[in-house]
Amino acid sequence: MTLQHITQLRCVKCHAIYGLEQQYTCPTCGLDGVLDIEYNYDLVAKTLTKASLAEREHNHWRYRELLPISDSVTLPHLQVGWTPIYHAPRVAQAIDVKDVYIKDDGRNPTASFKDRASSVGVVKAVEQGAKIIACASTGNAASSLAGFSAALGLKSIIFVPERAPEPKITQLLIFGATVIRVQGSYEDAWWFCQRACERWGWYNRNAAVNPYLVEGKKTAGLEIAEQMSDNMPNWVVFSVGDGCTIAGAWKGIWEMHKLGITPRLPKMLGVQAIGASPIVTAFRNQTDLVSSSAETIADSICVGEPRNWRKAIKAIEDSNGEMIQITDEEILEAMRLAARSAAVFGEPAGVAALAGLKRARQAGVVKAKESALVVIAGNGLKDVQTARQAAGSPISIEPNMDKLEQVLAREKLI
Ligand SMILES: Cc1ncc(COP(=O)(O)O)c(C=O)c1O
Repeated sequence: MTLQHITQLRCVKCHAIYGLEQQYTCPTCGLDGVLDIEYNYDLVAKTLTKASLAEREHNHWRYRELLPISDSVTLPHLQVGWTPIYHAPRVAQAIDVKDVYIKDDGRNPTASFKDRASSVGVVKAVEQGAKIIACASTGNAASSLAGFSAALGLKSIIFVPERAPEPKITQLLIFGATVIRVQGSYEDAWWFCQRACERWGWYNRNAAVNPYLVEGKKTAGLEIAEQMSDNMPNWVVFSVGDGCTIAGAWKGIWEMHKLGITPRLPKMLGVQAIGASPIVTAFRNQTDLVSSSAETIADSICVGEPRNWRKAIKAIEDSNGEMIQITDEEILEAMRLAARSAAVFGEPAGVAALAGLKRARQAGVVKAKESALVVIAGNGLKDVQTARQAAGSPISIEPNMDKLEQVLAREKLI
C-alpha cells in the first residue's frame, strides 16, 4: 500500500487544502493552522472490515489503512496499543453512574498513550531520511519519543520544562536522548524546540505542528470503537492539555463509525485542571483561545498555551460533548479511587479524566443512567512524588509483636 489512501491535508483554521508534500502547518495561517489528514474512506472500507480485523495482530498497526504510513517502512518492534479496557463496577457505584469502563493506556511500552504518536513520528522521520528528531514535552511525549528513537536507532533531542518529574527525565536519559531541561515553563520549552528545529532542520515531533502525530493518537479511538463495538458507552472521557489527544481519539471513533465497525457515537467529555484550563474557557465563551497561566499537580496537562485547541473544541462539539474543570484535590482523590476500586494506578493527568467524570456527574452533565469510558493515559509510576501525596505513608514500627498488635488495633484490622 502506498499513501493513496490519503486524499489531502486540510488547515483547521482557513480550510485550505494541501497535498502530502506539506509537512507541518498551513503556510497562510502559520502555527495557528494545524493540518488535518483526510482519507479516502471508500478505499479504506475495501480492506478494513470487522472480518479483516479479526485476523490481525493486537497492536495499533492493525489499523494501517487509517494511518499515514506506507507498506515499505520499517516499524519499531515495540508493542503499542490494544491496551485493556476494564469494567469498573465499584468506580461506577462510587460516582453514581450506570457503568464505568477504564482503558489503561499506561500499559504502553514507555507507560503512556504517547507511544501511539511517537511510533508514527519515528516512522515518518525515518521515511524522510531524518537522523535527528526533536520535541518539547511535559514529559510523556518526551519519554515516549526517546524510547521509540532508541527502537529505530534515531538520535533524539528533547526539551522539557524545569518541573518535569524525575521518573520521566530518567526514562529520557536511559533511552539515550539528549535532554535539554529548559529553565522555564512548557511554553518556553516548546518555543525553544520549535526554533531549534527550524534552525538545524531536525524532524519536529511536536504534535502541535506535525499532523502525523495525531493520527497515532487516533488509534486510541479506533481501539475504543473496536473493543466496545456494540456496547459503546454514552461518554468517552479524556483529560486535555494541548487538545490533540481528545481530538485524535474522536477522529478515530468517528472513522470506525463511518466504516460501520461501531454503530453508535459517544459524547466526548474533555477535562482540564482548574489552574490550566484555557480550552474550557474558549469552549464556554465560544471565543478563540486566550492563553492563560498554568498551575496544576497534573504536569502532563499543565499547558497554558495549547496549540490544538481548535481540533479539541471541534471534536467535543461534533460529539455533542462537554468540558469540565477539576481541582488538584479532586485529582488526588481520583488517583485513590482508580487504584483502590479498579486497581489501575494512573498518573495525575491520567486520573484527571476520572475526576472529571465524577464532577460531571455531580453537575448533572452525566446522568445516573449513563455509562462512560475513561482513558487513563499515563502510569502512576511516572510521578511518584504526587502519588505519595495521594497515597499517604507506610506505618513504621520496630519488629515487635506487641507494637504490631497496637498498630493493627488502631487501624481496626483486628
Ligand atoms: C497522561 C496524559 N494525559 C493527558 C494528556 C493530554 O493530552 P493533550 O496534551 O494532547 O491534550 C497528556 C499529554 O501529555 C498526558 O501525558
